[in-house]
Amino acid sequence: MRIVSGIQPTGNLHLGNYLGAIRTWVSMQDDATATGGECLYFLADLHAISMPHVPAELAANTREMVAALVACGIDPERSILFNQAQVPQHAELQWLLNGTARMGWLNRMTQWKDKAGKNREGASVALFTYPVLQAADVLLYQATHVPVGEDQKQHLELGRDIAQKFNNDFASPEAPVFTLPQPFIPPEAARIMSLRDGTAKMSKSDPSDMSRINMTDSADAIMQKIKKAKTDPEPLPSEAAGLEGRPEAKNLVSIYAVMANVTVAAVLSEFGGEGFGKFKPALGELLVEKLAPINRRFTELRQDRAALDAILSKGAEKARALAIPTLEKTYAALGLMRG
Ligand code: TRP
Repeated sequence: MRIVSGIQPTGNLHLGNYLGAIRTWVSMQDDATATGGECLYFLADLHAISMPHVPAELAANTREMVAALVACGIDPERSILFNQAQVPQHAELQWLLNGTARMGWLNRMTQWKDKAGKNREGASVALFTYPVLQAADVLLYQATHVPVGEDQKQHLELGRDIAQKFNNDFASPEAPVFTLPQPFIPPEAARIMSLRDGTAKMSKSDPSDMSRINMTDSADAIMQKIKKAKTDPEPLPSEAAGLEGRPEAKNLVSIYAVMANVTVAAVLSEFGGEGFGKFKPALGELLVEKLAPINRRFTELRQDRAALDAILSKGAEKARALAIPTLEKTYAALGLMRG
């Protein structure tokens, strides 16, 4: 099993990021290392330049994200943790795959359509070819499993199409150049919503800080935010069906369930019939208890720039060694001379 996944280095990490990608990464790392598999996790800093960005913030966010990943349990001794920019093989393979990817395939990508909006002529070329770089990210390492959120499934399928077409066009069936990666979408990928509006995703760009739990929030701030979280006047239902049409209640109960590692049904069998006056303090305390150790490590690590840079440079060295054989095979399959 070879697990490969990436995350864009956005700043202001919050509970949604943790309960989304990061927790899955940690549990896959723990499973993989128990069974002799291997995990490569990277900061997709090359992807970040597909949208307008501030260079100084990109470097700071990259370090910040490494600190968060390590604080949440990614162990740089067991997983290969790096940023794309230190492994030039990603960009090289992307160029080689640009010959195989089709304009029509990329034109159908919903993320491209959403992000470019009505202004396609003004969008960057990088935004358009973004999925080809993403394909290179995983094909470079012969990934077998790629944990991603539902929104990235289409990109992963495109990566499989590119691998398949390349193998068809340039390799023999007995000796394919690329492994076809499987998307792995966590079964109950928690969609964590805003604390102020149960129909909007928890987001770092929401102007209200009360809408999210940040990785840097103190215990007091967490308790306050949960206490002030929007709810409705009804008590909690005793079954999950009763949460339909109650987005805020549903969100708080889901957060509790994921944090306690139990089902929504189990949470409701404990709190069904209770009002938020009782549920909210319980949720706040659970969050404080689970997040406190992460918060402590994160606060400490994010100040240790030398340690973070060392993690990334060591990770990149290991990643390059794994990447080179596939990259060389790709050049050779295309008839490109390497001396
Ligand atoms: N595009 C992904 C996202 O925004 C991040 C990403 C880049 C990625 N390269 C990847 C995810 C390779 C999985 C595999 O979430």
